[in-house]
Amino acid sequence: MLRIAVCVSGGGTNLQAILDSLDSGAVTNTEMIAVISNNPGARALERGAARGIPGIVMSPKQYPDREAFNEAFTAKMCELAPDLVVLAGFLVRIPPQMVAAFSNRIVNIHPSLIPSFCGVGYYGLKVHEKVLERGVKVTGATVHFVNEGMDEGPIIAQKAVYVEEGDTPEILQRRVMEQAEWILLPRAIDDIANGRVKVEGDKVVFCRS
Ligand code: GRF
Repeated sequence: MLRIAVCVSGGGTNLQAILDSLDSGAVTNTEMIAVISNNPGARALERGAARGIPGIVMSPKQYPDREAFNEAFTAKMCELAPDLVVLAGFLVRIPPQMVAAFSNRIVNIHPSLIPSFCGVGYYGLKVHEKVLERGVKVTGATVHFVNEGMDEGPIIAQKAVYVEEGDTPEILQRRVMEQAEWILLPRAIDDIANGRVKVEGDKVVFCRS
């Protein structure tokens, strides 16, 4: 059984997609042990609580400096000891010591086709604003393992989504979620839980037997 801890900052629709996939059996061999948020008002915490999943609030704002937060956050995660940490719309940079402690055991969903529209400053709605500004016709989402870089770890899965005439950042964000994010993230968890994904060097390989 893969024990997952899910980190969230906002609405939690990706968290909901994981919960729904656990209920429907689309994700198997997986147990969600905690929902962790930097934002005490995150709707995502309510979604977890509605299923009886413990919620934990840890924000950099509660600590004197970033290093103190980094230490405390990593210590908390080590205490929870999940097999996999899932970043589902988590807007806090993962401490380097946590990346080291959970090497190839942290996954993130990013709302673009990495390496386009990613890295510092590309989060949430901003990604879709930049996509529309640049005028690209295809965008999408990416699930990847987290390394010490920003949106740079080995890619597990990607799905393309068309930009359409008249899109606003909000409309495009919603389409990317519906057509890509809510499908890719649960599927990646299921692949990891069932041993179909492994990392070799800086690449992900699939073992579909
Ligand atoms: C998603 O678009 C995710 O990819 C991005 O932030 C958004 C979170 O949405 N990083 P939600 O909280 O899962 O609804």
